[in-house]
Amino acid sequence: MDLLIQDKVHDESRQGEALVLEPVIGKNNGRKLYIESYGCAMNFSDSEIVASILLEQGFETTSDFNNADVVFINTCSIRENAEVRVRNRLKEFAGAKFKNPGMVVGVLGCMAERLKAKFLEEEKLVDVVVGPDAYRDLPNLIEQVDGGQRAVNVLLSREETYADISPVRLNSNGINAFVSIMRGCDNMCSFCVVPFTRGRERSRDAYSIVAECTDLFNRGYREVTLLGQNVDSYKWSGQLADGSEQLTEEGEVKTTVVNFANLLEMVALVSLELRVRFSTSHPKDITDEVLYTIAKYDNICNYIHLPVQSGNSRVLDIMNRTYDREWYMNRIDAIRRIIPECAISTDVITGFCTETEEEHNDTVSMMDYVKYDFAYMFKYSERPGTLAAKRYTDDIPEEVKQQRLQQIVAKQQEYSFYRMQARIGKVEKVLIEGFSKKSNNDYCGRSDKNAMVIFPVNENYKPGEYVNVLVERTTSATLIGKIVE
Ligand code: 5AD
Ligand code: SF4
Repeated sequence: MDLLIQDKVHDESRQGEALVLEPVIGKNNGRKLYIESYGCAMNFSDSEIVASILLEQGFETTSDFNNADVVFINTCSIRENAEVRVRNRLKEFAGAKFKNPGMVVGVLGCMAERLKAKFLEEEKLVDVVVGPDAYRDLPNLIEQVDGGQRAVNVLLSREETYADISPVRLNSNGINAFVSIMRGCDNMCSFCVVPFTRGRERSRDAYSIVAECTDLFNRGYREVTLLGQNVDSYKWSGQLADGSEQLTEEGEVKTTVVNFANLLEMVALVSLELRVRFSTSHPKDITDEVLYTIAKYDNICNYIHLPVQSGNSRVLDIMNRTYDREWYMNRIDAIRRIIPECAISTDVITGFCTETEEEHNDTVSMMDYVKYDFAYMFKYSERPGTLAAKRYTDDIPEEVKQQRLQQIVAKQQEYSFYRMQARIGKVEKVLIEGFSKKSNNDYCGRSDKNAMVIFPVNENYKPGEYVNVLVERTTSATLIGKIVE
């Protein structure tokens, strides 16, 4: 699975980063919920669904777990160290539970799904274990725990998309929001645990997505990121938008089929003032139709996260990525042709089973070919139960994985710098997100190509508005400039 998050682009950057709820007041049941999220953007988005379900039950939220009645940790299993971090965090929660034995501690998400009831044996202070498709059952499960039992629901579903649940926006700046468009994953990448933790792929009702985006826009939001493990395989069919129940000649109710390109267009048309981002694309499925749709609408951002994983065709084959080096390059060429200014980022894994030095060099040369704007790079981490764990030996020594990783990290630094430098002297359309972290004299926001841009505050413009910024210089990760009219 591959997913993006807004600020740093990828979910992976959020490993171990906790999202804490700002207090939200609902109809009160006198109990406080604390929720912390790890992993990908989808997980952060799921936490907003969980919060919505519990707020409906009268919970209030708190940003201090010591003060909470229910403490949830929404977990990630993608690499071993993601799981190690969660276990460490659970030890800290155990301290709080020791002082307040009535506290309910719950593990949600991918680790819950992967380990199931085993979790309760391993972590004695956990009361409830809930997989990604079972959040509607949370009120019930909490009740079971209140009644003195420990509770588990890790059933995966073929239908659940939480389409009707309006997520509570957590830690929100009121400008950017995640909108989940599908769940699960049907690609069986051999290294990846996600098909096991998030189940089969299913697409959410297109009209419920448009309704959510419209509602966000009406509430002042100006950017949505459409989320799915593989957005290019989004496909939904259902009744016509107007609910008119027109009949076919055979007397069946007419339906409409919406693919990802169609959905992008539908969301782009919510308002041309609403920016649309999406994540994650899969090289095997991204079509020219999607690229032409991006090119057609100014408000669909010129930025694509296209994980390559490896630049070598044999390695891609045993990774079960179902494309080869030439196919990937062809997709890059198509992006450059159809959207010449498009920024591209990627994910890379080094030291996958049996990878030779020469094969690793193909990944390096792929980086030379694409000159990515940004990359998330990882050492291969074997995950129990995956195809690779069953079929291949994790035989690349740790030092070799590390050395290959360092090599591509250094290479990427060069190209990130190259891409940043190329923006100097250009004017970027920036959506103002707020004050910069360092100073209230500066605003920050992102360019269409997803670069962070810092510029002096101008009182005529507020967060949530677009400005043109002339880029004057850069740091390693930020463009710096000034507003031009
Ligand atoms: N080991 C290392 N990296 C992995 N990823 C997924 N599974 C593994 C694994 N077992 C990386 C891939 C994916 C990103 C989300 O995480 O690069 O695109
Ligand atoms: Fe997201 Fe789960 Fe994958 Fe982690 S393992 S990145 S939480 S889908």
